[in-house]
Amino acid sequence: MPHYWPARVASAAPRRRPAAPTGPPPETAPTARRGRPAYDSAVPDAPARQPASGVSLRPVTPENEAAVVALRVRPGQERLVAANAQSLADARAVPACEPFAVYAGETPVGFLLLRHDYPGPRDYYLLRLMVAAEHQGRGYGTAALERLVEHVRTLPGASALRTSYDVGEGNAGPFYARLGFVATGGTNGDEVELLLPL
Ligand SMILES: CC(C)(COP(=O)(O)OP(=O)(O)OC[C@H]1O[C@@H](n2cnc3c(N)ncnc32)[C@H](O)[C@@H]1OP(=O)(O)O)[C@@H](O)C(=O)NCCC(=O)NCCS
Repeated sequence: MPHYWPARVASAAPRRRPAAPTGPPPETAPTARRGRPAYDSAVPDAPARQPASGVSLRPVTPENEAAVVALRVRPGQERLVAANAQSLADARAVPACEPFAVYAGETPVGFLLLRHDYPGPRDYYLLRLMVAAEHQGRGYGTAALERLVEHVRTLPGASALRTSYDVGEGNAGPFYARLGFVATGGTNGDEVELLLPL
């Protein structure tokens, strides 16, 4: 079992040296993008800011697993997060992993994976987070993280939620920063590590 779990690749991926530099903290993460950004909230069919009410986290079960596995990020975002099938396989290999389907009403729109013992016991780490391409920019990612924080606050010894992100184009650094995550100064593989005090 590797001792780090980047968001973007399978756990079996070969270890790479951290990029030098690993990138600025999210408060100052570069926003300039070349070409068409992988993330663009101004998709024509998405309301500018629709209240994301009715968003829930539900267990991944035999009934909804195929739908979760079928969820895909936008072209160009695949390098930012592992495929859900891979994340579910990773979760099965580690009992302290808790995968969730993100639902908007009764529709599965995303996926996240929480680990309860990383890097140590009672350290809560958001290993994977994705909202499917057609559902991005509607507040579902934000609402899913709010639900996750509510959940983590109920867990033993929870004082923080950690995560990490790849610094590539279209990265989720600004998304996490606006939710209150701050850079720890550390890395997870070659990803920037963040922490949200609870
Ligand atoms: C990151 C992700 C989960 C956000 O989900 P989402 O449902 O689209 O996010 P929201 O609609 O809640 O966005 C909230 C705000 O963050 C912004 N935002 C979201 N993702 C962003 C990104 N990658 N870069 C910059 N801003 C982003 C949105 O524009 C929105 O701002 P607004 O309120 O001014 O419109 C989704 O874009 C995704 O799955 N990305 C690909 C996978 C990925 O990078 N996962 C994180 C791995 S660590």
